[in-house]
Amino acid sequence: MTSEVNSAQAEWWNAAGRGWAQAQDIVDLVLKPFQDLLVEAARQRPRERVLDVGCGTGGVTRAIADALDGTRCVGLDISESMLAAAREHGQAEFLLADAQVHVFEERFDLIVSRFGVMFFDDPAAAFRNLLHASAPDGELCFITWRTPEENPFMTAASRAAASLLPDAPAPDPDGPGPFSLADAAKTRKILEEAGWSGIGISAVDRICTMPESLLVPYLSNLGPISRALKEADESVRPQLMAQVRSAFDEFVHGDEVRVPGACWQVTASAPL
Ligand SMILES: C[S@@+](CC[C@H](N)C(=O)[O-])C[C@H]1O[C@@H](n2cnc3c(N)ncnc32)[C@H](O)[C@@H]1O
Repeated sequence: MTSEVNSAQAEWWNAAGRGWAQAQDIVDLVLKPFQDLLVEAARQRPRERVLDVGCGTGGVTRAIADALDGTRCVGLDISESMLAAAREHGQAEFLLADAQVHVFEERFDLIVSRFGVMFFDDPAAAFRNLLHASAPDGELCFITWRTPEENPFMTAASRAAASLLPDAPAPDPDGPGPFSLADAAKTRKILEEAGWSGIGISAVDRICTMPESLLVPYLSNLGPISRALKEADESVRPQLMAQVRSAFDEFVHGDEVRVPGACWQVTASAPL
């Protein structure tokens, strides 16, 4: 897909899609506590149409479609490769589009996202565009990461990736990225500027778990380590992975990995 905005993100998420497709069952397992929050929010009122923004491989879209029988659930994502994996499971409709600029032809009474709204070039423009996708009195509910300091598993992954690629430029802390909505006051301002009202921002902390046997597949397919490994010859990737694996020992408890996830649950309403 080509887009005048968010092109770097589109390129990255298209490249990342293959790893996410390979690891989608692990993603759905690890991030299930945050999926459950969105399913719970979706169940609070009868819904005709639900939009899942930055739906990735579609776990949340499908979970809401399953929970709300008869509700139309649409997953939207900028990455063709993510959506190809999402579509393999059927059960919901998936739309290839950039949430920041897509011209929505229908209106949704609930717009959700799990970690899919932090990657916009222009967040206020994107949330304004999502307001256009909302029915009058429709709701927005998304989950986003709090600070890197509060999410030590993610910082361990970034440090490990940096050790594999010491010359790579550090990511811009103010640009699009997983922590771009970590500052609650800034997020509130963006949503107000975009025209949303009744904004609520609550801290949600969950322990995400996976069997220890899935830790290496998780790290090698997702996030900054997978990105760093892609730069290396395929034959040396297992060796490089083994080199950084010990940085995650503190999260391993017997045969289980426990990842503390410190997030915001952000809610807002569209004007009537
Ligand atoms: C961290 S992943 C989350 C995927 C999914 N929501 C989940 O929880 O498994 C972020 C997703 O946002 C998508 N994304 C990034 N920028 C986007 C944009 N401008 N419009 C639509 N989707 C976007 C990416 O392609 C990616 O699938």
